[in-house]
Amino acid sequence: MLELQPASRAATVSLAVNSAAKQESISMFQSLETLPADPILGLSAAFRADANPNKIDLGMGVYRDASGITPVMSAVKKAEAGILEAQTSKAYVGPVGAQAYNEIIANLIFGDALVSKLGGRRVTVQTPGGCGGLRLAAEFIGKATSDATVWVSDPTWANHKPLLGSAGLRFRDYPYYDYDKHSVRFAEMIDCLRQIPAGDLVLLHGCCHNPSGADLDREQWLQLRDVALERGFTVFIDLAYQGMGDGLEPDVYGVRLLAESLPELLVVSSCSKNFGLYRERTGALTLICDSPAAATVATTQLAAAARANYSMPPDHGAAIVQFIMEDAGLRAEWEEELTAVRDRINGLRSLIVERVQAAGIGRDFGFIEKEKGMFSFLGVDRTQIETLINDYSIYLVNSSRINVASINESNIDYFTASLAKVLSA
Ligand code: LMR
Repeated sequence: MLELQPASRAATVSLAVNSAAKQESISMFQSLETLPADPILGLSAAFRADANPNKIDLGMGVYRDASGITPVMSAVKKAEAGILEAQTSKAYVGPVGAQAYNEIIANLIFGDALVSKLGGRRVTVQTPGGCGGLRLAAEFIGKATSDATVWVSDPTWANHKPLLGSAGLRFRDYPYYDYDKHSVRFAEMIDCLRQIPAGDLVLLHGCCHNPSGADLDREQWLQLRDVALERGFTVFIDLAYQGMGDGLEPDVYGVRLLAESLPELLVVSSCSKNFGLYRERTGALTLICDSPAAATVATTQLAAAARANYSMPPDHGAAIVQFIMEDAGLRAEWEEELTAVRDRINGLRSLIVERVQAAGIGRDFGFIEKEKGMFSFLGVDRTQIETLINDYSIYLVNSSRINVASINESNIDYFTASLAKVLSA
């Protein structure tokens, strides 16, 4: 038998190793399982593929105007033109984003007086949208404590648990929405919160609860503040809809109350909805710490976590917000546009209730008029949801959440007639 020369033997061995490595790399990806579509994003994809001219997308939470378009706000367009003209560099900004934007967001949420009062105890950092802010908050919580449970409302936004859970956080639910009475189960909620120990976190929706649209009233926020002080748990607020409920200031009543009362607080905010900057990924995470020294330490943790995850947030959306808020005329224009958005949504809530009655539907949908923001539960069951989607091309989340802002004069009659048929089947 011919002896292989050392060089050719080495070549054979290396070929064998390479082909084994190739096989391994193929089987590494083949081991993955197909995942179900995201409950909200998957609906948008199905809606786009639907050829029915009467189709209605009540799924994803984006604002739509009377013609069904998600418009770019006029103040945003003008700010973009100004940025195009004035921007001289695209150099990196840094992991915590633009300091001027961060201060603008803090002032928008807390107001100038509270920002001054909080002083060095408060730190705000720019994040890639509200989702990026939630993820950064989860990383931060994971560094601060290894065994905390995050208590979330039952129900909560469909992406809260996947998003925060992917950073290793654990969850338990507190009672929130009463599907029969269409209101907050506040007595049960507060009883549950009274059992939560210091060291755990309670995730609240700052306003326009997603998915129910049912918010706490002022008296309830006060009681909640007292329980948080008594128990010592940490409050974590998701504020994705400031200005979409009752107004920029009324919508943050609870957030400001907790910020001035509690030693520590996390607030994640987003400019997706109130500035219509959805795809620009423009958000922030604010921490209130029990001392300026703790805030200095926390800032180093946030910067390191941002750097390790995505290095730094994208600039464009934050630059737009900064441009608008630093120009008195543009700021006034934006506030007017936001008021028009909010008024339209609130008007649609009344219109839906009125047209549902006019369509002869006996069931009382009056609760829709009392709820806030983009969402309400329609209160139909899974079979009825499937019928609405499959037979009528009316797309809604499988919890029966609807985006009120997708209704308009052109589709409301089709919506109410379809609903009437489904409810009477
Ligand atoms: C929603 O709840 O539909 C929005 O917040 C969009 C999203 O990312 O889910």
